[in-house]
Amino acid sequence: MLKTSDMGFEGELGERLVDPSPVPSESEDLDYSLRPQTLDEYIGQDKVKDNMKVFIQAAKKRGEPLDHVLLYGPPGLGKTTLSGIIAHELGVNFRVTSGPAIEKPGDLAALLTNLNENDVLFIDEIHRMSRAIEEILYPAMEDFALDIIIGKGPSARSLRVDLNKFTLIGATTRAGQLTSPLRDRFGVIQRLELYSTDQLSEIIRRSAAILGIACDAKGAAEIAKRARGTPRIANRLLKRVRDFAEVMGNGKITGDIADIALNRLEIDSLGLDSLDKRMLDMMIKGYGGGPVGLETLASAIGEESVTLEDVCEPFLMQLGFIARTPRGRCATAPAYRHMGYAVPDAPAASESGQQSFFNDSDS
Ligand code: ADE
Repeated sequence: MLKTSDMGFEGELGERLVDPSPVPSESEDLDYSLRPQTLDEYIGQDKVKDNMKVFIQAAKKRGEPLDHVLLYGPPGLGKTTLSGIIAHELGVNFRVTSGPAIEKPGDLAALLTNLNENDVLFIDEIHRMSRAIEEILYPAMEDFALDIIIGKGPSARSLRVDLNKFTLIGATTRAGQLTSPLRDRFGVIQRLELYSTDQLSEIIRRSAAILGIACDAKGAAEIAKRARGTPRIANRLLKRVRDFAEVMGNGKITGDIADIALNRLEIDSLGLDSLDKRMLDMMIKGYGGGPVGLETLASAIGEESVTLEDVCEPFLMQLGFIARTPRGRCATAPAYRHMGYAVPDAPAASESGQQSFFNDSDS
């Protein structure tokens, strides 16, 4: 039903190894086999998982559909995987579509009328749905009904068609772009966080076991450290490092092999690639460390501002390399040091009239 072009696979595929968007091969069978099937198999996101366990159990006990769920957070963290697990745990069908794939009201009507009682309908990139489509969703979410207008002009009549009760799970990287009437119709709103290195190591070792790749604890930890908190990137790096292990070593992924492979792939010790470095370099050398607006920065390095905002920024902020201020983005002292620049002396706060990002404890 879905075309890859409708699922956000735009751009030059495979250009950035650390791009968290899926590439088509990652939607095929092999990668489905890496996806956990149950909440117990799903590593990380403990708060979300614990909450969902309660909501799922309660819904099952009442024999009702789970309330509509909105999952948001940076790309590649497992929103689709988690939604599939929720449907599996509920014991219902899982129907998948995406905001841009629903072109006409009839597309959504067809999806909704084909749902069985308590099924899960998953809409990826729900912020990219048109307003006309969104308005069909309101009565569907609230009253499990479709309002169909028959005829035109003064003789037009509205016909209400009842739907089976269902759960909508919406996923978005940009919760702020959802209209408030849509956001208000989700009973459960959960944010997925970037993963810790330990959690990513566990995911890598699980994936390696499924794929039959020998990978020791140090090898997994080296990949995890450089996977930007994102399982999709971790699994992709695992496969590339395996290539080096098979050609340059004895096939086993060790800490040393992973380090050599990732250096060759120009992914640095913290997982930064050339785009992150261009962004930090421009902030530091081009704009004196900031503040600089995102649009200005994006055009200075010839990138789309959404790429910087969705892909580079969450990770650079988690590392504490970028601070967001009302006047723009600022590079912090750790960013200067990582990029090999001397940390400038901090202007006295009273002099500059702004908060300093240079006075950290170890500068
Ligand atoms: N593969 C990708 N994401 C995963 C997760 N959160 N847990 C287990 N395996 C995964």
